[in-house]
Amino acid sequence: MKLGCCYYPEHWPEDVWAEDARRMAEMGLSLVRIGEFAWSRIEPEPGRYEWDWLDRAIDTLDAAGLKVIMGTPTATPPKWLVDQMPDMVAIDENGRRRGFGSRRHYCFSHEGYRDECTRIVTAMARRYGEHPAIVMWQTDNEYGCHDTVLSYSKAAAARFRVWLAARYETVEALNTAWGNVFWSMEYGSFDEVDPPNLTVTEANPAHWLDYRRFASDEVVSFNREQLAILREHSPDRDITHNFMGFFSEFDHHEVGRDLDVATWDSYPLGFLEQFWFSDTEKRAYLRQGHPDIAAFHHDLYRGCSNGRWGVMEQQPGPVNWARFNPAPLPGMVELWTLEAMAHGAELTSYFRWRQAPFAQEQMHAGLLRPDSSEAEAAAEVRAAARAIRILGPQTPDPAKVAVVFSYEAAWIFGIQPQGRSFRYLELVFEWYSALRQCGLNIDIVSPAADLSGYSMVLVPSLPIVPEGFLDKFAALSCPVLLGPRSGSKTESFSIPEGLAPGELKRLIPLTITRVESLRDGIHETGDGWSITRWREDVQTDLEPEFVLADGRGIVFRDDNIRYCAGWPDHALMRRIIEKMAQEGDIGLLDLPEGLRVRRTASHLFIFNYSTEPRVLAEAGERVLPITADAIPLGR
Ligand code: GAL
Repeated sequence: MKLGCCYYPEHWPEDVWAEDARRMAEMGLSLVRIGEFAWSRIEPEPGRYEWDWLDRAIDTLDAAGLKVIMGTPTATPPKWLVDQMPDMVAIDENGRRRGFGSRRHYCFSHEGYRDECTRIVTAMARRYGEHPAIVMWQTDNEYGCHDTVLSYSKAAAARFRVWLAARYETVEALNTAWGNVFWSMEYGSFDEVDPPNLTVTEANPAHWLDYRRFASDEVVSFNREQLAILREHSPDRDITHNFMGFFSEFDHHEVGRDLDVATWDSYPLGFLEQFWFSDTEKRAYLRQGHPDIAAFHHDLYRGCSNGRWGVMEQQPGPVNWARFNPAPLPGMVELWTLEAMAHGAELTSYFRWRQAPFAQEQMHAGLLRPDSSEAEAAAEVRAAARAIRILGPQTPDPAKVAVVFSYEAAWIFGIQPQGRSFRYLELVFEWYSALRQCGLNIDIVSPAADLSGYSMVLVPSLPIVPEGFLDKFAALSCPVLLGPRSGSKTESFSIPEGLAPGELKRLIPLTITRVESLRDGIHETGDGWSITRWREDVQTDLEPEFVLADGRGIVFRDDNIRYCAGWPDHALMRRIIEKMAQEGDIGLLDLPEGLRVRRTASHLFIFNYSTEPRVLAEAGERVLPITADAIPLGR
């Protein structure tokens, strides 16, 4: 795994560049990402390009032996361009323009803006495509950041209508698919269909789902336009995009399929603070991040692009954007770095080299402080570089367990949660976390993935069963767990004929006759475990495997297939996993709080996220003793 950093030469006087580059190399870095926000310096006026400074920046990095990841600058169109084309900005759900003055002020559907992107990316690719220092391109920056996937502009409406016409062919077909007879929502032609915002009460969920599918396709095609240019003018260079954490607004499997390397931006402390974690977890892991946050995304994004992936932005200290921004404990930056390596990353790049004293992110730490002295993380980067050298290249130990992740499922439960706390990402994360606490290597894969090599497959929920899925699952002989609401919707967001789980009845003969959502704090209890948030009534001849105290069945099993008719707590999840592991012949650990492991072909990595020392023997007999070449981290 190579180490790198995100660098903005345009933020610093040119006379510090060479010294910066020297210090980066000395610290153990070999990659530098630049360029992704530099449009106003590359093209200060329409058509007038200023390449000289960027040429010199690349040459300076090159001279220090560093390789460059070049970002296309399309996340930050300059003011003159927005003034030229005021309608290129996105329109928010309330119909307001998303104005100039920060970043991501564009609408994916604006064809004039797409042309401008083609122009600037072509110019950059022509200039640097074959430069020997450039080893990778990053398209744009964090598609969707700041809530920018969905736009309700005229441009988006126009392309949505074309998208609908291609999908349904006739407006009658659309009306039938969406059920538009309800509330007299029928359309006479595709031209009459607007985006689903600004309706009096909720719009038709089928309308929303298609709008989300459309918006996701817009991201895919926007990205493809850049890829085509880069592939033409910059042969043999890898292309990546930097995905975000806990973000599901577009289909990352689709975008990832087009990339050579999927990368993501890892801010474990910011994510812990910003997302659903309990107060207890937020306190316990304040300066470490929840032990599964980074790993979850490593395993998710590894599944997004043929296995090649990395961390493009690694948190090095306090960030500026969460509600509270604590500093990592000593040792965490090194731990996060080595954990990425253990999961198979080919790069980890820190955001950012030097903290900027100006503008929006002046409170965001870097490897250097604004005065160029070393921040706390610098020593840990050196230590990580040393550890990576000692450990040597790591070959993966293939995971036996797959968790199926569906972006469409995230959209569906976002559109119609039916219970406020039915959050798909959280459901998947909880199942993943339960598996990790058993010491397993896990792959998070798309519903289209080949599952034949796994010994255990978990599907936290898959409301729409995609084509080919049933046959693939019918052919599996390993234990499979299907979660609540699987098979509960048709392709066009209706209840399937014969009720849920629709076609999945072919895998397990049961029918969901009624569902209920439960408010926070309500637990339906079984024997040492409980169901929260969601519970289903099941009609079946199968004997339930897990039963609530009042006799209602929750987990049903038919041969190798199980169905869980509720949102299981950790204890129930653990019990189910134990049964499945036994059937799949998989060894489990019972790791103490905060401890996680990850195996590669040659090493067992053990990460302690708790604030206490942990005794490895407690982790079970199967944990190997520490050997002489183990590398203890800073704490
Ligand atoms: C990322 C973004 C970076 C920077 C960073 C701060 O979301 O890609 O440009 O803003 O967050 O943590």
